[in-house]
Amino acid sequence: MAGPPLGPASLVLHQPLCLLRLALPLLTLLFTAGVGCPCEDPALCRPILHHPDYEVFVFDVGHKTWKSYDWAQITTVAAFGKYDSELMCYAHLKGARVVLKGDVSVKDIINPTFRSSWIAEKLILAKKQYMDGINIDIEQEVNCSSPEYDALTALVKETTDAFHREIQGSQVTFDVAWSPKQIDRRCYNYSGIADACDFVFVMSYDEKSQIWSECIAAANAPYNQTVTGYEDYIKLGINPKELVMGVPWYGYDYTCLKLSEDDVCTIAKVPFRGAPCSDAAGRQVPYKVIMKQVNSSISGSQWSKDQQAPYYSYKDSAGHFHQVWYDNPQSISLKAAHVQNLGLRGIGMWNANHLDYSGDAAAKQQTEEMWQALKPKV
Ligand SMILES: *[C@@H]1O[C@H](CO)[C@@H](O)[C@H](O)[C@H]1NC(C)=O
Ligand SMILES: *[C@@H]1O[C@H](CO)[C@@H](O)[C@H](O)[C@H]1NC(C)=O
Ligand SMILES: *[C@@H]1O[C@H](CO)[C@@H](O)[C@H](O)[C@H]1NC(C)=O
Ligand SMILES: *[C@@H]1O[C@H](CO)[C@@H](O)[C@H](O)[C@H]1NC(C)=O
Repeated sequence: MAGPPLGPASLVLHQPLCLLRLALPLLTLLFTAGVGCPCEDPALCRPILHHPDYEVFVFDVGHKTWKSYDWAQITTVAAFGKYDSELMCYAHLKGARVVLKGDVSVKDIINPTFRSSWIAEKLILAKKQYMDGINIDIEQEVNCSSPEYDALTALVKETTDAFHREIQGSQVTFDVAWSPKQIDRRCYNYSGIADACDFVFVMSYDEKSQIWSECIAAANAPYNQTVTGYEDYIKLGINPKELVMGVPWYGYDYTCLKLSEDDVCTIAKVPFRGAPCSDAAGRQVPYKVIMKQVNSSISGSQWSKDQQAPYYSYKDSAGHFHQVWYDNPQSISLKAAHVQNLGLRGIGMWNANHLDYSGDAAAKQQTEEMWQALKPKV
């Protein structure tokens, strides 16, 4: 529920570090020579060197839906699914980077030796798979005056230095919460981290992961709250060009304990990291599933003026009321306008697989409109 789902804990390396130091240059030699390149054209195994002015950063979680993505826009694919060499070759053909997922226990990275071996392991994997960098997605709780606080900044800095040195043109990015104000008890050195990598991806979603007011269903990424998050990052002194806006291509389906006449859906109290209520009371639903359900709902699509987001209510087969809050081209365009207003680096989403790529006429149009909503309006 807190953004991209956390992966399994990284494997602990047992090889002595010196072995990795010896192995890296050799591997570099082999891989740059195109040995074992899976692409039809071996040139496609080379890393992307071009640095676009505008980023469209796409999370992909697997399968072959990527074949239908809007490649005219994509600049980076963060490959969070099973490695797919066909995707790597295709992205490179389109001039887009493909980056690894990086997740590691923050308890482990306090140890500098552990950090070096973790980075070496990721570099070997990136080279073996002809990838262009790494997206670090931690999302773990960190206390402000803990050794983890500085270790995390160090990890990002050391990863960036190593990748930039070993893979030409490579990109290292880090995923941050919608606001720097210790969301989900994540006290990170945001300005340190943003400076240490190429840019941060701001996960402007799951903004109801900690509900301190009334326990009611609400938008995943309300307009005001989203914009305030960016303003707060910029107030920390972070250059807007180090921020990419992340928008959700999914919503939340909440079961209502009570649904009032004026559409207020009371939800179960599910605490999260100190907050009495959270979006964990709901279930994440992809945009494609929402689009199949909204027309047959009791309410049809409604628009919340306060939150600048759509929602609808329905009754399940057991007779329980539900309320679904989501984002559509209208709510996304409003937020995307701030990419220009604030001078951000670009935009992206969690995740690209969430649209309907089946090709039937209505689905095709809805999917196209979601991709179009990412574009800055002139
Ligand atoms: C942060 O500090 C609190 C209070 O000292 C402690 O209970 C908690 O386990 C700490 N969290 C982490 C991730 O270290
Ligand atoms: C954040 O990290 C930078 C770079 O390591 C450091 O200079 C700065 O003092 C840190 N800021 C805080 C508030 O810890
Ligand atoms: C739902 O209704 C809208 C507006 O009436 C229509 O444009 C859309 O095609 C419908 N969606 C489906 C899946 O039938
Ligand atoms: C959103 O922000 C605007 C401008 O600051 C303010 O006028 C408006 O009342 C806010 N809306 C909500 C629902 O908080």
